[in-house]
Amino acid sequence: MTEQERIAELRTTLHQHNYNYYVLNQPTISDRDFDALLRELQDLEAQHPELFDPNSPTQRVGSDLSNEFETVVHTRPMLSLANTYNKDEVREFYERVQDGLQGEAFEICCELKFDGLSISLHYEDGRLVRAVTRGDGEKGDDVTANVRTIRTIPLQLAPHGDWPKEFEIRGEILMPWTSFEALNREREAREEALFANPRNAASGTLKSKQTSVVAERKLDAYLYYLLGDELPADGHYENLSKARAWGFKVSDAMRKVSTLEEIFAFIDEWDVARRDLPVATDGIVLKVNNLRQQRALGMTAKSPRWAIAYKFQAEQQSTILREVSFQVGRTGAVTPVANMDPVQLSGTIVKRATLHNADFMSALDLHLGDHVLVEKGGEIIPKIVAVDEAFLNEPRGERVEFIRRCPECGTELVRYEGEAAWYCPNETGCPPQIKGRIEHYVSRRAMNIDTLGPETIDDFYARGLIHNIADLYDLTVDQLSGYNDNRIRSARKTIQAIEDSKQVPFERVLFALGIRFVGETVAKTLARRFHDIDTLSRATLDDLLSVNTIGQAIAESVIRWFADMDNIFLVERLRARGLQFQISEQVLAEQSDRLAGKTIVISGVFAHHSRDEYKALIEQHGGKNTGSISAKTSFILAGENMGPAKLEKAQKLGVPIVNEDEFLAMI
Ligand code: IVH
Repeated sequence: MTEQERIAELRTTLHQHNYNYYVLNQPTISDRDFDALLRELQDLEAQHPELFDPNSPTQRVGSDLSNEFETVVHTRPMLSLANTYNKDEVREFYERVQDGLQGEAFEICCELKFDGLSISLHYEDGRLVRAVTRGDGEKGDDVTANVRTIRTIPLQLAPHGDWPKEFEIRGEILMPWTSFEALNREREAREEALFANPRNAASGTLKSKQTSVVAERKLDAYLYYLLGDELPADGHYENLSKARAWGFKVSDAMRKVSTLEEIFAFIDEWDVARRDLPVATDGIVLKVNNLRQQRALGMTAKSPRWAIAYKFQAEQQSTILREVSFQVGRTGAVTPVANMDPVQLSGTIVKRATLHNADFMSALDLHLGDHVLVEKGGEIIPKIVAVDEAFLNEPRGERVEFIRRCPECGTELVRYEGEAAWYCPNETGCPPQIKGRIEHYVSRRAMNIDTLGPETIDDFYARGLIHNIADLYDLTVDQLSGYNDNRIRSARKTIQAIEDSKQVPFERVLFALGIRFVGETVAKTLARRFHDIDTLSRATLDDLLSVNTIGQAIAESVIRWFADMDNIFLVERLRARGLQFQISEQVLAEQSDRLAGKTIVISGVFAHHSRDEYKALIEQHGGKNTGSISAKTSFILAGENMGPAKLEKAQKLGVPIVNEDEFLAMI
């Protein structure tokens, strides 16, 4: 077998395993064997750049190069569906179809209405060639590069299958609940804005400029509409069943029925069963099954007459507002929370609902004792959607106002420009902020003393044993164990972890201090640039802004932190305890300014280091890594398979291309 043949064979095999794993959930080889095959393919592809294929299984991981979305006109416009909200309207639809078909018998295909974003996929000769978002229905964004990373979307259909030479298949891109929740947890830890629901998260992800981000976010796709000039069957249901056999993920919930009663039964069944699905749904879609009948019924200007959506009611309940409390988070942000009489909603008892922020709260015009409507919609946390108007002629209680002072420490609240939240600015004196900072300090990615849990921190704070992170270093085994013999072992472990944290390198200590906007990467950058805490503390706004990736908000936050004497005392106490406030000799020795002033674009696949390692190397030697080629680019660090578009642009702008070995020699 030639290497070319082996590449083709590996690609087919890996596509099949990918399908078994992601679509069928039935892997037939171990992860290890899969990785071995994938690596073999990667190696062979690296040796044969002329055989590059954007649909190769090796391309599923994406890249961090910036990709631009071109607007393309849909081959066939992407219509939407008319909505119905109750069974009477469904009955009317059914009768309209009956009339339209002049009494001819017909079948209805019942499906779930997936709540994501619609996508159109084009296949030619069994290969995915284009993926386009709905856009305005006439034209959408070409997001092919991002869509290639979604594992349940086949890039290459099995050879010799009975798929048409050319077809389009439409469906919905979704972020499963579990991925959504994990993503929001991560974002919360990094103090980034949370996504309100999986649809927003999926849409934000699909618009990402870096395919590697899409690859990490674990999107899924369900397909529900096959289009083309040569379809295998004359029924919608039959066509989708074929598509399923070709490797597409088609929902098993799809059902063909021939009476209105069966339609209602499907609706009732899935209104309940949908709660156990891994992805969000917001209704049912009903489609006349026969394609000839579909054509006979035709379209209105906006939607087909042969299909309709039935939207589930977001379950709503009326209850009484008793009190609004205000919670202070560890960043100092104050969130209003409604406390209500308990009420049963979508299977759980609800008695609290978030009011998000001051604007949201005042828009509702809440008064104590109001009857309010609560809903558990696409958002996970229940929310108050309105005051129940049926009761508005009754005398109302006091209007609920947002507080002016912190409920925990009494400090006057502030609002930062461009932010919806009010904050308690008393960072060093406000209990939830103090405890939150200690929790952050001990967390695994910071000082890694995470045997010290939130309850212990709460307890110690309440008992006056810790007020700040420096106090951790005064704790004793006896205090931790509470003189309880059973706890001595774990207490010793924690004390040891606290002791060990004195060796944690400066960049992580800097991150652990919890300076607003100073995440792991920023901390690393600051440590590399300023070398020690004293130099950093003396840095001016201009000094900070002169660093590549440091913007105004970060710079101001650093200045503000060091301007606070409490923080200076804290650093002095930690320094006296032996913590690392200086970059290590080793990190320093690895640094140089050989690439100072150079702007470098990374492209292609590398043999000696990963792309992230090259990024780190560029930073370490004073260079700047950017995503797209421009006249300012000093050179391109190019591996194998650099994209032809990039190559052309580089040549046009006269940007030099440096290969891996040349680059390593440079530094
Ligand atoms: S069929 C001409 N089937 O709902 C028919 N749409 O309001 C085209 N959707 O834009 C759509 N699940 O994004 C169809 N099983 C399903 C669906 C579905 C979700 C979305 C789709 C469409 C919107 C229509």
